Amino acid sequence: MSFSLTEAARAELDRLFAGYPNRAAAILPALHVVQREKGYVPDEAIPFLAELAGTSPADVEGIATFYTMYNRGPVGRYHLQVCRNLSCSLMGAEHIIAHVSGKLGIRPGETTPDGMFTLSMAECLGSCGTAPVMMVNDEYHENLTPESIDALIERLRAGE
Ligand code: FES
Repeated sequence: MSFSLTEAARAELDRLFAGYPNRAAAILPALHVVQREKGYVPDEAIPFLAELAGTSPADVEGIATFYTMYNRGPVGRYHLQVCRNLSCSLMGAEHIIAHVSGKLGIRPGETTPDGMFTLSMAECLGSCGTAPVMMVNDEYHENLTPESIDALIERLRAGE
């Protein structure tokens, strides 16, 4: 399996790995570079990054699968990650997930047929005080209600 990136992304990776005395320390930001470029971290990226980091593919795979911010498969244009951890659960995350699921007609782990939305469940997003919370791509949406979700999805559908 071959793996390639744009010249700009490849140059960014070279800068990242050169910037750490222990090259493996650059794996986290390097995974972000790959995800920004490809939309997710494909399997072929794992041995590619391992070689750059001077470590094993198992090490890179372990990092890429431990952190939920890395997508291991293609996602829709908008990736909705609803927190299901303690504070959000206490504030109704289960209902939020059910509402998003019903609104989009997909279950967690699925993407709408038009490729617009992927729904995922996430662990604590670090914003417990504003639960329930979800991320849409890199943006936080907090104190969610069914109404705020409906409005948000309509805005996204309208391209706003
Ligand atoms: S429990 Fe949901 S943000 Fe922390």
